[in-house]
Amino acid sequence: MTSSDITEIRARFEAAGQGHVFTFWNQLTEAERESLLAQLELLDVEHITEIATKTLQKNVSEEQAKCEIAGLPANATDSVVDAAPAKRSRWYDLGLDLIAKNQVGVVLLAGGQGTRLGSSDPKGCYNVGLPSQKSLFQLQAERIIKISQLAQQKAGTDQLPVIPWYIMTSGPTKQPTVEFFKTNSYFGLDPANIFFFDQGVLPCLTPDGKIILETPSKVALAPDGNGGIYNALNRSGVLDDIKKRGIEHIHTYCVDNCLVKVADPTFIGYAAERQVDIATKVVRKRDATESVGLIVSKNNRPAVIEYSEISPELASAKDETDPSLLKLRAANIVNHYYSAKFLLNIPNWTSSYLPFHVANKKIPYVDLATGELVAKPTKPNGVKLEQFVFDVFPRLTFDEFASLEVDRNQEFSPLKNGPGAANDCPETSRHDLLAQAKAWLLKAGATVTVDEVEVSPLTSYGGEGLEAFSKVDKSIV
Ligand code: UD1
Repeated sequence: MTSSDITEIRARFEAAGQGHVFTFWNQLTEAERESLLAQLELLDVEHITEIATKTLQKNVSEEQAKCEIAGLPANATDSVVDAAPAKRSRWYDLGLDLIAKNQVGVVLLAGGQGTRLGSSDPKGCYNVGLPSQKSLFQLQAERIIKISQLAQQKAGTDQLPVIPWYIMTSGPTKQPTVEFFKTNSYFGLDPANIFFFDQGVLPCLTPDGKIILETPSKVALAPDGNGGIYNALNRSGVLDDIKKRGIEHIHTYCVDNCLVKVADPTFIGYAAERQVDIATKVVRKRDATESVGLIVSKNNRPAVIEYSEISPELASAKDETDPSLLKLRAANIVNHYYSAKFLLNIPNWTSSYLPFHVANKKIPYVDLATGELVAKPTKPNGVKLEQFVFDVFPRLTFDEFASLEVDRNQEFSPLKNGPGAANDCPETSRHDLLAQAKAWLLKAGATVTVDEVEVSPLTSYGGEGLEAFSKVDKSIV
């Protein structure tokens, strides 16, 4: 890099009010200077400063108070819990047929840093302590294998259908995720059908919008939120691959839900039958304080109010017709369906559409005045700007959007907190998987003589095919 390039970069940062990133310039070695410049060159500092100013000045609760917020209209919702068995089978069969025709793909959101869980590995590598010691990634991979086999059996074809798996990672999760898959031989899947793609990063900021330096020569960076998926799908070539393969239906999900039904045929069949662009699964919110987003109607459009942004009054408001229920109770479990038509249109809208949200975090930093490195701040000292995956919902009308209620015991047990927490922790994940397995076996008529039993996803995807087990006396079937 020439000295005039350096002067130009410096001038841009100074003009944007971010010149402090050069505070330690005179003390840096040549290598450190190069490394800092390489990072700064990649940052669109004018844009970052503009979104920071806009987002940090926003008053989310005031904006919320001006909106008309209600539960979802009845004609945009359905429920697998209440649906007649014939309807459920119709959705399931349609979904299996679409899988058999190679029209279904899955996108995994795995770029989060999982700070609440307290493990430095990507969350998908986590072993919740099942008898098999399987990781979350392995459970998900095996569900993809099993549902492909079930679709093939139904269609009576010679070839196993392919469900491509697009895995979004971020700076901190990419390398260990890819390594984990390699070391585990891709869990039996063909690596040609697994795509890792990276979401973007943004600098962490002080509460007044200044870029934080983690060390004298390093900007503090963080993933740009799971809404970074839309730009990332486009940039990475995933959209091209979706098009090339003729994928029509895409299931997107969150890495930390051990019960997730990957490529769920019922959900896909439901959304395909309704011919919507986006569908989402919901469960009944546990109580007013549960950390889940709420799927709502906002100014007559589908939307999510995130748990970090809802007022306590709105979170605890009661249903007018049945005060035993919360007014807003459709909890987001990050299982979203997209039509390929919707995703392939991303290049026409992404860059300007999605708003940013503010997350207050403890961010390691170097004190600009003293040069002291603070690796573990004791209280939140800065913000991360994040986009949210669901902020595309308001692009749609209720004719183009549908919500499917599912059974929490069968489909939602997220791993958010570390061992020993009161909820959403490794112990609850393990418990919920084992409880589901036992319930499936008992329903299929088996006598279970062991305290705990695990059903491998390779044996059963959703409780089907367990009739052969009359007596279960081992811990894994
Ligand atoms: C998320 C949902 C919330 C929902 C809850 C249910 C969002 C924004 N919020 O909240 O409405 O009720 O799950 O469990 O979706 N991720 C990335 N990149 C990032 C950040 C996150 O890929 O930059 C991924 C994570 O790896 C994870 C998913 O997005 O798979 C959700 O992220 P997480 O931080 O766990 O979200 P929650 O705050 O729990």
